[in-house]
Amino acid sequence: MRTLLSTLSVLFAVYSYLVYTGAPERGTVASAEVRTGMRVWQENNCAGCHQLYGLGGYMGPDLTNTYSLKGEAGIRTFVRYGTGRMPAHALTDPDLDALVAFLTWVDRSGQSAVPAEAVHWTGTYLIEPR
Ligand code: HEC
Repeated sequence: MRTLLSTLSVLFAVYSYLVYTGAPERGTVASAEVRTGMRVWQENNCAGCHQLYGLGGYMGPDLTNTYSLKGEAGIRTFVRYGTGRMPAHALTDPDLDALVAFLTWVDRSGQSAVPAEAVHWTGTYLIEPR
């Protein structure tokens, strides 16, 4: 009986230690650079045209997984030079680095299931496929 109790006490202590000191899931803690990138995202009103996790403006595509789709170089090129439809953004190098870090973090933290073909140019969702 005593052995059982002490075994259980030790197990309880080990379990408590693991629960209270366990590292949070990888990729969920935002570094200072990621937080700076979020500020850059907000100050430049990227969300006016883009969604993250499906929320935001609908002139441009959802960028939740843009890091996986376009890569770091793709993000830098779109932001720096723009396209015929997206304006170029003259960001400082550290701000652009932070923005890439933010979008990389967002990419790890969620998945967007909104395919570009499902969004009409007026911003409405198409329930029936075109
Ligand atoms: C005025 C609207 C507008 C704003 C503001 C804007 N974008 Fe865009 N963005 C677009 C449009 C439209 C596209 C699609 C461009 C194309 O294919 O020609 C796009 C494309 C992109 C792409 C490529 C995504 C893909 O899969 O094709 C990235 C990355 C991107 N934008 C990042 C940003 C970031 C970061 C900001 C803020 C600094 C931003 N955009 C601000 C309209 C905008």
